[in-house]
Amino acid sequence: MASNDLMDKLVSLCKRRGYIFQSSEIYGGTGSVWDYGPLGVELKRNVKALWWKAMVHMRDDVEGLDAAILMHPRTWEASGHVEGFTDPLVECSNCHRRFRADLPEVEGGQCPTCGTRDAFGEARQFNLMFKTFMGPAEDSASVVYLRPETAQGIFVNFQNVQTTSRQKVPFGIAQIGKAFRNEITPGNFIFRTREFEQAEMQFFVKPGTDDEWFEHWKAERMAFHVSLGIDSDKLRFHAHGDDELAHYAKRAFDIEYEFPFGWKEFEGIHNRTDFDLSRHEEYSGKRMEYIEPGGGDRFIPYVVETSMGVDRTMLVVLADAYREEEVEGEERVVLGLHPKLAPVKAAVFPLVKKDGLPEIATELNQALRKAAIPSFYDAAGSIGRRYRRQDEAGTPWCITVDGETTENQTVTIRDRDTLQQERVALDQVVGWLQERLGG
Ligand code: GAP
Repeated sequence: MASNDLMDKLVSLCKRRGYIFQSSEIYGGTGSVWDYGPLGVELKRNVKALWWKAMVHMRDDVEGLDAAILMHPRTWEASGHVEGFTDPLVECSNCHRRFRADLPEVEGGQCPTCGTRDAFGEARQFNLMFKTFMGPAEDSASVVYLRPETAQGIFVNFQNVQTTSRQKVPFGIAQIGKAFRNEITPGNFIFRTREFEQAEMQFFVKPGTDDEWFEHWKAERMAFHVSLGIDSDKLRFHAHGDDELAHYAKRAFDIEYEFPFGWKEFEGIHNRTDFDLSRHEEYSGKRMEYIEPGGGDRFIPYVVETSMGVDRTMLVVLADAYREEEVEGEERVVLGLHPKLAPVKAAVFPLVKKDGLPEIATELNQALRKAAIPSFYDAAGSIGRRYRRQDEAGTPWCITVDGETTENQTVTIRDRDTLQQERVALDQVVGWLQERLGG
């Protein structure tokens, strides 16, 4: 399938099934901002919950944090974002469309929109941070920024978290939250947007141990993505060359996925050295030093950062799960999501709308809901159509209440991927699903 085809199909499936809608669609949409519908929000919550479980709950050396989006403006001077968080921008002299100067289609000098040759003058640096004003005065003294990364909320709270949690270096702080970048050229659906979520973790280590921790986190993060069921042949590391390194990084590796539009980064692992804490010490006048217990060394910790884009990870998960295949002479579209990611775990169907079957199916659906297993009751259309709808939505199991149910209290459970059907006792269905969904 051509890459554009696959992206178009994915965008249309996401809209049709209630995964992702264009923001403010009734007004013609907002540039590169997306809303997550009933299934999308569940998938996103599942991605974030699995990340939190792996990074915070299953480790005793990482603490959680939820810092505010709006921060003191000095934060962004200290972090280097006011001065250096820029992309080169050029404008077409004919149609006045603006582009990133480093895009391959712009580098030849021809405008990709109107085709004008030698369309661009000198590139100027464009700061990607969104600016707004805090309080009623709209003057330079009240400027604040929407954070372009969640990391700075962690750095400025390093001392607060360390002292209150009584963690000792090495330890980490994790948070998930919104970030904003006024991207010049957003695109590829939810890949590059102006509002997005990051799941970031800063791991504070003693200088000299940073290379070792860097390798540890590289391996942990790759293993996490494989555990989501993502095809490992489509995952790889990309080491940043000197010309790619961010202003704060000594070393950086991207985790890339082979999207329909090519290999692209969706998580970064960075050795940020003591850059951020030292700068905050300098700009705030507050000490960021760590003193080892028992009269040990004093130092400003180095930081190994893992920074995952939540929306990009969702695109990885969706693109990886999408498949088209033929079943019994009929084409079907399947989202083969790992059951722990699937928004709806089971659909419940009465085979026919009579003989008391809808009542039994409704009761079973309620029992699943009470056990906190997201489920869906559907009695509309042929059983084949109901299966197809759930295959597209990524639901791993469909449970059918049929004539035999009233005789022997059993139902059939059909597996989305193998298409195998199993008869299970009605009162065992909750346990059957819980066993497969794990803790
Ligand atoms: N704190 C480090 C940092 O922000 P980054 O490589 O600029 O590093 C980390 O961003 C991750 O955030 C990226 O790998 C990507 O998944 C996500 N991300 C960055 N810009 C994005 C955008 N405009 N739209 C969606 N996700 C984005």
